[in-house]
Amino acid sequence: MSSIIDKTKSPSEDILDSALRPKNWSDYVGQEKIKENLRVILTAAKQRNQSPDHLLFYGNSGLGKTTLACLVAIEMGKQIRITSGPAIERAGDLAAILTNLSEGDVLFIDEIHRIHKTVEEYIYPAMEEYKLNLILGKGPMARTMELKLPHFTIIGATTRPGMLSAPLRNRFGATFQLNFYKQDDIEKIIERSAKILGVNVEPEATKIIAKRSRFTPRVANRLLKRARDFSQVEGLKTITKEASEKALASLEVDEMGLEYGDRKILMALIEKFNGGPVGLQSLAAVALEEEGTILDIYEPYLLQCGFIERTPKGRVASRLAYEHLDMIHLRPNRLL
Ligand SMILES: Nc1ncnc2c1ncn2[C@@H]1O[C@H](COP(=O)(O)OP(=O)(O)O)[C@@H](O)[C@H]1O
Ligand SMILES: [Mg+2]
Repeated sequence: MSSIIDKTKSPSEDILDSALRPKNWSDYVGQEKIKENLRVILTAAKQRNQSPDHLLFYGNSGLGKTTLACLVAIEMGKQIRITSGPAIERAGDLAAILTNLSEGDVLFIDEIHRIHKTVEEYIYPAMEEYKLNLILGKGPMARTMELKLPHFTIIGATTRPGMLSAPLRNRFGATFQLNFYKQDDIEKIIERSAKILGVNVEPEATKIIAKRSRFTPRVANRLLKRARDFSQVEGLKTITKEASEKALASLEVDEMGLEYGDRKILMALIEKFNGGPVGLQSLAAVALEEEGTILDIYEPYLLQCGFIERTPKGRVASRLAYEHLDMIHLRPNRLL
């Protein structure tokens, strides 16, 4: 058989995704400071036989927030319930979730910055005193009912910590920022994922994929899978450097890991606004993207690469951006 994978097994990509998710601390690469701090928090909680304080994880999509929350639950030997801010529409939804928790469970609330304002008031006493004050009926006949809840730990995840209200933010015992990974760490993640996928990767291929992964584990895994597809179709037993390059070219991922969408934003900034400064709203309108998508998906990595800068007057393209896009001849006077 010339294929690089065993054709008798063809688990769907979803299953593979969860297969790639680390299930123990040693497989969770990088973010050493966070792991160290969490270890102290969790060990102390275990010694006191209590559930740990509520935790807030923030950072870009794909950096490992959900994975980290799962590891916390595993470490505590408890269940994790997963929901998201927008999914909790009414106090009743929150009550249903909270009353179904068992003692010590972890409640993971993804996109917690999008939690409804009306629900927020109910969540405060739940977080602080493990009780829920429900209002039954309306008008003069209304009365409140206090529900006692089991002890639990909320882990909130967000890409936009600034959008959390101060009272909500203050109710978390610890907040951790997940950063972009180092090249070495991403290479380790790719090697581990390849093992799980049952494929070999040339060290050169690992390097190339890692370099273009936006220093983000989820992206690295996605690129690895595409490179695997290319190798497999070509009947190769190993993911080669050439196959990875072909895969990346076909995905239009450039040497810096920029994809079509990133380049579109940069080009709009350069061609339509002479490199800025320009406000987010105008940039979004011209690039035909939603403001939120620019803020959450594109901008963090473009800032990290130093391709754009934020100034009080708006976003500006840097000299590096002009060079990267081969548009240095168009640079404005400020970059001469
Ligand atoms: N530190 C890490 N080590 C190894 N793999 C990781 C790590 N962080 C994330 N991943 C991989 O990246 C994928 C996306 O991570 P996830 O926790 O879902 O990110 P987020 O919730 O921040 O968007 C996971 O399925 C996992 O396979
Ligand atoms: Mg997630």
